[in-house]
Amino acid sequence: MSAVKKTPRIGIVTAGGDCPGINAAIRGVGKTAILEYGMEVVGISSGFLGLINQEYTTLDENQLSGILTVGGTILGTSRENPFKKRSSVLSIDKPKLIKKHYNEIGLDALVCIGGNGTMRTAALLAEEGLNIIDIPKTIDNDVWGTDVSFGFDSALWIATEAIDRLHTTANSHKRIMVIEVMGHHAGWLALYSGIAGGGDVILLPEVEYDIEIVAKCLKRRAINKKPYSIVVVAEGIPSKKGESAGRYIANAIKEKTGLETRETILGYIQRGGTPSPMDRVLGTRFGASAVELIAQKKFGHMVKLDGSQISSIPLSEVGGKLRLVPMDLPLIKKTRRMGVCFGDEVN
Ligand code: F6P
Repeated sequence: MSAVKKTPRIGIVTAGGDCPGINAAIRGVGKTAILEYGMEVVGISSGFLGLINQEYTTLDENQLSGILTVGGTILGTSRENPFKKRSSVLSIDKPKLIKKHYNEIGLDALVCIGGNGTMRTAALLAEEGLNIIDIPKTIDNDVWGTDVSFGFDSALWIATEAIDRLHTTANSHKRIMVIEVMGHHAGWLALYSGIAGGGDVILLPEVEYDIEIVAKCLKRRAINKKPYSIVVVAEGIPSKKGESAGRYIANAIKEKTGLETRETILGYIQRGGTPSPMDRVLGTRFGASAVELIAQKKFGHMVKLDGSQISSIPLSEVGGKLRLVPMDLPLIKKTRRMGVCFGDEVN
């Protein structure tokens, strides 16, 4: 009598900050796994905490329907990092517990949907012997190895719309409007929303700014009869401890120019709500491709977008690296020539 073959069982975990498009990726993984490969799918709750506490649920096709357009993550998330060293001697060995629960749940592979922190954790779990496939997601667009992560396009729409709205009120009152956008240590969101929204000054963590130069650019605009100015600030630029970058820059501009200035801190609105069509498509493509990697047993890889093609990169090449805006990016050079001030030189 031949042995009964076990149905392959895969887990999905979503970790780190949420973003629009995660549910599209969960759906892409789940539907491909169930419908194309006859696999069982398990959704882990609340990031890696769910693997530590063994909180999970089996996902069937019905539960994967109707989530494509929904923001956030149906599985919940957390910033739990199981490899973070605790000072207490009583601390439990979380990676060991995760490995134990991975085996007890009967997983053949685990799809980790996350940003930089998750990629690091996932790479370490792969070293522990777990079959891991990663999917990059973040509004910051700072995951190394992929041209784009989903979440970025949706956040870009929101930030751009906010800047568009600031133009009219700035014009009515003849003010300088400072807007702080997210991005953590990377300036992608500030750069793209700043350019899409017609920002006059764009400050990025990657470009060292001088507040005197920023003030000079804004005063020159005022002298040249420009009725108002828009300043887009990445949250990660150097500023005063305990003060948001946007508020710090707005106060400094007021002090240095004497011009009426207001600030807007966009915050979590950038991460919430329905994903853009681009993010729905990218999440779907990444999700389906992740399962294809599992079917090929090509573990320890992250799916990535390379131009217009989906491929993959070993996790060992991704973990611990940040994808920052390169100083020599043609987009910076071109828009600088068009009069955008990046705070490092008067143009
Ligand atoms: O990484 C995504 C992000 O939204 C960053 O842009 C932001 O700095 C951070 O997360 C906020 O994190 P938290 O959810 O822990 O407040």
